[in-house]
Amino acid sequence: MRILVTGGAGFIGSNFIRYVLSHHPDWRIANLDKLTYAGNLENLRDVEQCPEYEFARGDIADYSTVNALFEKRPFDVIVNFAAESHVDRSILDSTPFIDTNIKGTQVLLDIAKRYGISKFIQVSTDEVYGSLCEKDPPFTEDSPLRPNSPYAASKTSSDLLVRAYHITFGVPTVITRCSNNYGPYQFPEKLIPLMISNALEDRPLPVYGDGQNIRDWIHVDDHCRAIELAILKGISGEIYNIGAGCEIKNLDLVKAVLRVLGKPESLIKFVPDRLGHDRRYAIDARKIERELNWKPKYRLFEVLPDIIEWYEKNESWWRRVKTGEYMAYYEKVYGS
Ligand code: NAD
Ligand code: TYD
Repeated sequence: MRILVTGGAGFIGSNFIRYVLSHHPDWRIANLDKLTYAGNLENLRDVEQCPEYEFARGDIADYSTVNALFEKRPFDVIVNFAAESHVDRSILDSTPFIDTNIKGTQVLLDIAKRYGISKFIQVSTDEVYGSLCEKDPPFTEDSPLRPNSPYAASKTSSDLLVRAYHITFGVPTVITRCSNNYGPYQFPEKLIPLMISNALEDRPLPVYGDGQNIRDWIHVDDHCRAIELAILKGISGEIYNIGAGCEIKNLDLVKAVLRVLGKPESLIKFVPDRLGHDRRYAIDARKIERELNWKPKYRLFEVLPDIIEWYEKNESWWRRVKTGEYMAYYEKVYGS
């Protein structure tokens, strides 16, 4: 099997590549990544010499770049991780979100159509469903699409393009919609690595609004196994929600991080709320459990100390990330 992974130098993509190389020695992977601020080849240092793996720098929104890769050797599967992925950045400027998430997906779909690939996996998010109230049942695949942030709107738009290319041209697509991921190599603009690294530096932990927003957390390895199953057994044209049933309020999660690290709660700093901040996400993953026989292995509450330990042991990784562009972004969002 030849797989084109896009955005493989980011958080989930790099974990997915490592997972595939260790579980499927007969699969070949090419990683197409633009190396934006979030793309980091250090995330793949341990596998970069594998003969089954190759890297190409390029933009998924550039047709000729993607076409050149396929001219060299067609792929059986595309797994599209490449995206602008951070809600706060989409509030500052939505332009790259439209370019990559929408235009980039359209280019990949045109290539998939042209070369007749056997599966196109669109890695999407529960944020396309919008926000839940505390008593609402979790999102199912049939929940209405009600994106609230520019990020979520761009991902919803790409999902709709994927659907349209399946129905109009018969491209064999599968959309996966996953809840919030945690794990190694997550860019420290996202809640968990931001809070761990700030706490390790004794810097304030910025909690938006009242801290009562709820997210449903999944270990990145569980997400990777679900995508593996979507490749192997996912039905063309279907959508699969992915979630581990681990809902927690942001403030409780931040306090748990501080507890594990033995740091004081006085580090918590309540800051003005994110614009349009979704109150709650929760995923109903019964379809993928039933139809693809997937089950999460990890629970956030049990593995949080291990995750924290990874960031403690890999301090040089996140310290190198938290420089330059990152600090300029940080000041824009949180002040100095
Ligand atoms: P990330 O920001 O860590 O990585 C994104 C990667 O895409 C980076 O390596 C970046 O360089 C690359 N990229 C960006 N624009 C590109 C372009 N135009 N061409 C080629 N490469 C480009 O993101 P992540 O957290 O790993 O998320 C991966 C995917 O999973 C995204 O599609 C995201 O929407 C989705 N997702 C993420 C989560 C989560 O909790 N992180 C949850 C559900 C779904
Ligand atoms: P984030 O990791 O950005 O993921 P998403 O917005 O895609 O769910 O944020 C997770 C939650 O944490 C979300 O409710 C916003 C909140 N949050 C803070 O309170 N402070 C922060 O500095 C960040 C980055 C997020």
